[in-house]
Amino acid sequence: DKANYRHFMAKEIHEQPEVVGHTLARYVDMATERVSLPVTLPFDFKDIQRINITACGTASYAGIVAKYWFERFARVPVEVDVASEFRYREAPLRKGDLAIFISQSGETADTLAALRYAKAEGAHTIAVVNVPTSTIARESETVLQTLAGPEIGVASTKAFTCQLMVLANLAIAAGKARGELSDEDETKLVHGLVEIPRLMSDALTTELQIEKLAHRIAKSRDVLYLGRGTSYPLALEGALKLKEISYIHAEGYAAGELKHGPIALIDETMPVVVIAPYDRVFEKTVSNMQEVAARGGNIILMTDAKGAAEATVESLVTIVMPDMAAAFTPMVYAVPVQLLAYHTAVVMGTDVDQPRNLAKSVTVE
Ligand code: M6R
Repeated sequence: DKANYRHFMAKEIHEQPEVVGHTLARYVDMATERVSLPVTLPFDFKDIQRINITACGTASYAGIVAKYWFERFARVPVEVDVASEFRYREAPLRKGDLAIFISQSGETADTLAALRYAKAEGAHTIAVVNVPTSTIARESETVLQTLAGPEIGVASTKAFTCQLMVLANLAIAAGKARGELSDEDETKLVHGLVEIPRLMSDALTTELQIEKLAHRIAKSRDVLYLGRGTSYPLALEGALKLKEISYIHAEGYAAGELKHGPIALIDETMPVVVIAPYDRVFEKTVSNMQEVAARGGNIILMTDAKGAAEATVESLVTIVMPDMAAAFTPMVYAVPVQLLAYHTAVVMGTDVDQPRNLAKSVTVE
């Protein structure tokens, strides 16, 4: 049931500190502060030369975030594909490659077909799924479960952040196994993960501010989302979430791509949501914000206190997020991104949990 919430989506957004915490506890040994996967992998990450990640929709954006993590922590090249492309492309996989499939439902037709293809090619397969009895879980070699609990709202929220938590731990495990991370590095990263549930609770306190902002967004025809690094897939996620439940057209872009096209769209009517924690690409994103501001664009900046102080650009609204370890910002910044879509949809009066034309689980291609 919806408890005291108006929609399942609101309930599921608010449940995140708890369910992401459960997922964390399944993948980390809290006593030793080490990653401890609940299953033994049937391969050694040292032998893996390449990882393919395949999923659809929001789960594919979790996959893009994970690509940054695997490449940074484990120095292993990663390709991310949407399942509908991967399954028909006849991508050359080598025996012993690793293919990871991400799916909340575990029933998405294209993701399942992609899994079957990878198995036939002799790849090792890992499924990151929320429903342990699902077809994708049953058919993959290894299952890493997300502990989000049942997700009812068609828009994926808590499943996404739990997927990120599992993938962060897997990427750290890969980094350790490949000798790219020291014990000390691991401890530092795990400390960062342990903070996430509390930081997500802090992020929820931006809700009133976001509710107000939603009235403004609801008047827009188009919204642009920008981010760099791991905030780039979050920009894609923000745009998808807004489109699917508020029916407002939105695009997510890597901030560096602004000049290569989308800047032509910017005028006084177009809100630009910039996701920019104070990390190593922050300054670069600030330059992109300056380009937006110079064309009269209305900037909605999601950053931390440091970023808010350093951003030399006038924003319409700045949403100040808690300070945190730079590597794991997507899990925390997902919260205001989801809230913005949610409250905009509420203002628009759409059917938030059952948006038109969409199904919770896409079991036909
Ligand atoms: O069940 P799955 O995770 O495989 O579903 C994948 C997508 O259909 C899903 O994430 C979809 O994009 C959501 N409606 C996004 O909110």
